[in-house]
Amino acid sequence: MVKICCIGAGYVGGPTMAVMALKCPEIEVTVVDISEPRINAWNSDRLPIYEPGLEDVVKQCRGKNLFFSTDVEKHVFESDIVFVSVNTPTKTQGLGAGKAADLTYWESAARMIADVSKSSKIVVEKSTVPVRTAEAIEKILTHNSKGIEFQILSNPEFLAEGTAIKDLYNPDRVLIGGRDTAAGQKAIKALRDVYAHWVPVEQIICTNLWSAELSKLAANAFLAQRISSVNAMSALCEATGADVTQVAHAVGTDTRIGPKFLNASVGFGGSCFQKDILNLIYICECNGLPEAANYWKQVIKVNDYQKIRFANRVVSSMFNTVSGKKIAILGFAFKKDTGDTRETPAIDVCNRLVADKAKLSIYDPQVLEEQIRRDLSMARFDWDHPVPLQQIKAEGISEQVNVVSDAYEATKDAHGLCILTEWDEFKSLDFKKIFDNMQKPAFVFDGRNVVDAVKLREIGFIVYSIGKPLDSWLKDMPAVA
Ligand code: NAI
Repeated sequence: MVKICCIGAGYVGGPTMAVMALKCPEIEVTVVDISEPRINAWNSDRLPIYEPGLEDVVKQCRGKNLFFSTDVEKHVFESDIVFVSVNTPTKTQGLGAGKAADLTYWESAARMIADVSKSSKIVVEKSTVPVRTAEAIEKILTHNSKGIEFQILSNPEFLAEGTAIKDLYNPDRVLIGGRDTAAGQKAIKALRDVYAHWVPVEQIICTNLWSAELSKLAANAFLAQRISSVNAMSALCEATGADVTQVAHAVGTDTRIGPKFLNASVGFGGSCFQKDILNLIYICECNGLPEAANYWKQVIKVNDYQKIRFANRVVSSMFNTVSGKKIAILGFAFKKDTGDTRETPAIDVCNRLVADKAKLSIYDPQVLEEQIRRDLSMARFDWDHPVPLQQIKAEGISEQVNVVSDAYEATKDAHGLCILTEWDEFKSLDFKKIFDNMQKPAFVFDGRNVVDAVKLREIGFIVYSIGKPLDSWLKDMPAVA
């Protein structure tokens, strides 16, 4: 029986391996992690991450050919193929701080693989890494290999959180990069055969290592760039009376552009976009390409602008002060159908409102209070380290933040409410009831364009929707970022 081990039981390692185990019943798959609580959760009824359909997949194969363990070394030793899906955070100190990828966890995983291996292995980069990381990993493995042969493959993951299981079942493509040697090609074939259990072979793209590594960074940069483009347009729509939804529709019907990923919002979040673009910027700079670096920098700048523009709009609309005012925050996850809060725009918006002395009442259907408090207390980039290593500011989150368990409680007596995640349940809230229980004038700031602004105005709300024609109330109060 072929044995696969995946180092890193996170948002990528867990779902990817669960689907692989389900689709390849004759392969034994073990996911390992240094985090004991995370592994315990994978072995329990409450999985460590929320992802539609995941629980069903795990239940079907856990204990049969899918295992979760903290015994990292044993399972690496026994396996034929080792996936590495550990954190690759942005460096916070030293050379490349704030941009370059921190490969500490990757390197320690590679050293451990070299130390414990007694048989040849295929080592697969699943984490998103800078171009030419495979070369560095190869050096670490072969320098310590005691004659064992390691083949490195790059197999970046393109799943999107919230639709991970669907994406893994039906990926647009699977990308495998490897060496152009006989052994490299043999390794590519071995991994392609695994995916071919459920992915049509014509959708499995095989490239050289560097193309595969760079393609992942490029894909995320292109995706984020689309969001920043439509968000930049949303600011102009507000200033001119155009409607960003209509503009995006008109633009997206051009088949060269396409309709997807053109929703204006309070900004993109998630663990990857910003990190991967920063990484791309750093690589451009290191290769003497400052113009290319500056182009990509702008994607992040527009995203920061959008988050701050939104928060400023809240403050300026409410007579330029939110001091002591209760503001309901509906949604904290970076998008719907996930409990993931990494780099969620809600963090920046909440911190900005807290700095203006607002009292926040936060509700999200999937994010726990502890997580919200951690997020609002953590320094930039610290979230992307294994949980036991995360630094929390000693003073913790202020008393200005209250986390509650439903939207009605969050909005009771509030002066304004901000929708920061597009959870479906927010569309069907009883806004008449909410309006009756709020202070007047009652404001809605819709950062995801999920509510019907016309109906809400009929109820009596003053409504701000990203990129939409402004209420007369808001027109006189420009939000300057
Ligand atoms: P994560 O933080 O959820 O999981 C990483 C896991 O690796 C953690 O549980 C951590 O404890 C573990 N770990 C770190 N060092 C270890 C070691 N030496 N031995 C054993 N376990 C170790 O991260 P996530 O989101 O799964 O991302 C992993 C990689 O995949 C990153 O490079 C990310 O950029 C990439 N990626 C993430 C996607 C996403 O949607 N989250 C999508 C595509 C790629």
